Amino acid sequence: MTSGAVSAPGSGGTSAREQLGQTAAALGGRPGGDAAFFLRLGYRYGAIRDLFSSLYSGKPGDGGLFERLQTLLLEKYCERPDRLKAIDLERERRGSRPDPRSRGPWYLEPGLTAYMLYLDRFAGTLRGFRERIPYLEELGVRLVHFMPFFRTHEGKNDGGFAVSDYLGVDPRCGTNEELVEIAEKLHDRGMYLAADLALNHSADDHPWALAAKSGDERCRGYYYVFPDRREPDRFEAAMPQVFPETAPGNFTRVPEMGAWVMTVFHDFQWDLNWSNPELFLEMVAVLLGLANMGIDLIRLDAVPYLWKEAGTSCQNLPQAHAIVRLLKACADVVAPGVAFLAEAIVQPSEIVKYLDSGGIEECQVAYHASLMALLWEALATRKTGLLAASFGEEVRLPENTGWLSYARCHDDIGLGYDDRKIERAGFTPGMHRRFLLDFYTGIFPGSWATGRRFMENPATGEARISGTCASLCGLESALASGDALALELAIRRIELLYALISSLVGIPMVFSGDELALRNDYSWENDPELAEDNRWMHRPAMDWAVAERRHAEGTIEARIFSHIRRCFAVRRGIPAFAQDALFDVLPSPAENVLVCSRRPKDGSGSAVLVLANFALERRQVPCSSLRGVDLRAARDLLGDAPLVIEGDAVVLGAYGVVWMG
Ligand code: GLC
Ligand code: GLC
Repeated sequence: MTSGAVSAPGSGGTSAREQLGQTAAALGGRPGGDAAFFLRLGYRYGAIRDLFSSLYSGKPGDGGLFERLQTLLLEKYCERPDRLKAIDLERERRGSRPDPRSRGPWYLEPGLTAYMLYLDRFAGTLRGFRERIPYLEELGVRLVHFMPFFRTHEGKNDGGFAVSDYLGVDPRCGTNEELVEIAEKLHDRGMYLAADLALNHSADDHPWALAAKSGDERCRGYYYVFPDRREPDRFEAAMPQVFPETAPGNFTRVPEMGAWVMTVFHDFQWDLNWSNPELFLEMVAVLLGLANMGIDLIRLDAVPYLWKEAGTSCQNLPQAHAIVRLLKACADVVAPGVAFLAEAIVQPSEIVKYLDSGGIEECQVAYHASLMALLWEALATRKTGLLAASFGEEVRLPENTGWLSYARCHDDIGLGYDDRKIERAGFTPGMHRRFLLDFYTGIFPGSWATGRRFMENPATGEARISGTCASLCGLESALASGDALALELAIRRIELLYALISSLVGIPMVFSGDELALRNDYSWENDPELAEDNRWMHRPAMDWAVAERRHAEGTIEARIFSHIRRCFAVRRGIPAFAQDALFDVLPSPAENVLVCSRRPKDGSGSAVLVLANFALERRQVPCSSLRGVDLRAARDLLGDAPLVIEGDAVVLGAYGVVWMG
């Protein structure tokens, strides 16, 4: 289905609109039935043309390129199933904020919750997944976030992120038809589907790469290929490395081509050359193909890396933003119900630019990787200074966009905190990072965690952290030692993390297995295809026998599962936790305590204070430090209980969280 075969429309004095009309007729579009398409195209025409020419004018073949783009959009619109077109219309009608009458975009729906999973590890196949939808519903999940499941590189494949067929479901997972059915089934149940577009690189056995290897000039131009080391060396001088331990350098020598190919991630992941308009057109076809399968939220993998320029870090360049804007504008013409999710693991000030660059839309949702890293920092230090200072400033987003918040995901935990804020919190940046690495790998005295260093860079001493939520919270070591107090504290840490991601900001997301407190899975070490990449330790296969224990009272699984379910259910009824609700980090009365206030944006409904204690001991929070809530009437909404008050202070137990409202 990968098609770049977009023929240039005939010329001969007809207007673009007439030409497109003729194309529509030739494609079997119904007369009048394409009004929505033309309306949407008309509205965005100028923006698409300007962005396109800012990126591609003057390129060879420039003349017919823009017309080909329009024809491609129309083709994809004609292919779009009526069911999805109806959903588009419905979502357009919902409108956007700040129009007070609008329900707002679907991805900002109050109470939206997400669950991230590998199909093979969670349910074997797409068919197996169908059977597990009730499990997700039981947990209260509304947005299902699939990790990559398209045909992928033979052998090592970076968890599916080395794609060899962007629109062909991996036969081991099922068929395209099954995928379409799953999307439909989820929609019928009021749920949504997120999936990846790994658009920075293809696998080196993608048909384009294979063609390039066998001398096809067009496909060679889809990648960054250099005959000798001159250009690669220029690039390397300023480019950081993503996987320094296992994939050092950013280029790979490909003997068949007698050339160096840019491979920022692994050597089998070839960076796509987005400065080539032919590649752009191919990828627009892929993007819209995904949309037409019924995917609601398209995750733009490694989006900061899209544009490369020697002499720069090759991250977050202005052209990368222009590409995302252009892709979004194209998607809005064909599939306006679809939203983009930015996977931009960069400084929060840079992440925000992928949501909105100066009033122009890019992505609508972004991973809040910074919140994840800050929560783990606060757990290790038992202090909330860095979390409060960073989180307070970093989470403000443009209108109609939102965060996806999580305690753990399939990737490592990076320690990309702002050095000045580390200093202001009273730590020395280099030493602080080393402390966190030692802490989460269990080396630091008194650490409860069983994680591993990921991608240690011998040159800089930098590294990141791997491990599941439960193991990093101390569950693995507590079970090994049989220490009941350690076990209780580990469970409370998991509860604290999930109570916070459900209340601080954004759409809370469970990483598959966290809801059952699954521990590190060490089987990857014996699998030659995985052994180099310890991120596999925190991607455990779902254990459905263990899952059964969620209904057995007194088990760890029952406790964690019901806690997360409760967080999700209670949160849904709290207007102050809506995606666009306001928040403030209040000055904390104690160094271990975080106090945040959240309030509905439109002033309706009351504020809720989120209080969290990162200490191993109970803490008292003086009522005088709590603003915005009627203390006499306040309860703990999460625990559904009156507040524990001593004297003039609210009492928080070890790792206690209170939603006070
Ligand atoms: C993204 C994925 C990560 C993968 C990388 C390369 O960052 O989250 O798992 O290794 O892209 O595709
Ligand atoms: C780096 C990349 C990110 C990727 C991660 C995988 O942080 O920026 O995209 O997910 O590495 O470890």
